[in-house]
Amino acid sequence: MIKVSPSILSADFVNLERDIRHLGECGADYIHVDVMDGLFVPNLTIGMPVLAAIRNVTELPLDVHLMIERPARYVERFIEAGADILTLHVEADNRENTQVALMQIRALGARAAISLKPGTPAEEALPYLPYCDMVLVMMVEPGFGKQRFMADMLPKVAQIRSWIDRDHPHCELEVDGGVSEATAKLCTSAGANVLVSGSALFKAPDTAAFIRNIKEEA
Ligand code: DX5
Ligand code: ZN
Repeated sequence: MIKVSPSILSADFVNLERDIRHLGECGADYIHVDVMDGLFVPNLTIGMPVLAAIRNVTELPLDVHLMIERPARYVERFIEAGADILTLHVEADNRENTQVALMQIRALGARAAISLKPGTPAEEALPYLPYCDMVLVMMVEPGFGKQRFMADMLPKVAQIRSWIDRDHPHCELEVDGGVSEATAKLCTSAGANVLVSGSALFKAPDTAAFIRNIKEEA
């Protein structure tokens, strides 16, 4: 089954509660929350207090994408604030620290995930797969919404899908960046089962129809 995880980076922050409730009514499966620290990526967004506020207005799983340096420092606090899925970038720390952080996420009762930037080869995901409940493949450079979809990332998605199917069938495979009605099918055909969508989804005149369409096109 294909899931849709709307990225609230494109929501109306003054009306975040309204937008999040609307996403729930429109069939969203998760709520994707982009956390940026101005170091790992050249942008700043939101942190624990906003996540905790979001937690109060939705029952949907909160899919928290940490684009921060040495994310292990904040694992506990993001889970306390309400993260159900916590995604770390493999480029943000060394292998040992990342692995320990993934184990800690699971020990705290959340789902653990890693993400790969466009320049990071699929093979970098391999050592972490036993510790992951989801892998996130970036289809744009992390940092900003509304960027152009990089179709040359699709073989990476397909490669990771083949490893997941072979050895870790319960692991989810998510794509993020440039996902629209025009590109969703490419992602699901390559093996993604969770679609993050920000600008295209929030721009759609009928959110429920958009979510239905990108799921059905699969
Ligand atoms: C980018 C973020 C994405 C972003 C996606 O760094 O990780 O989640 O919000 O936005 P769109 O769908 O507009 O590319
Ligand atoms: Zn994201």
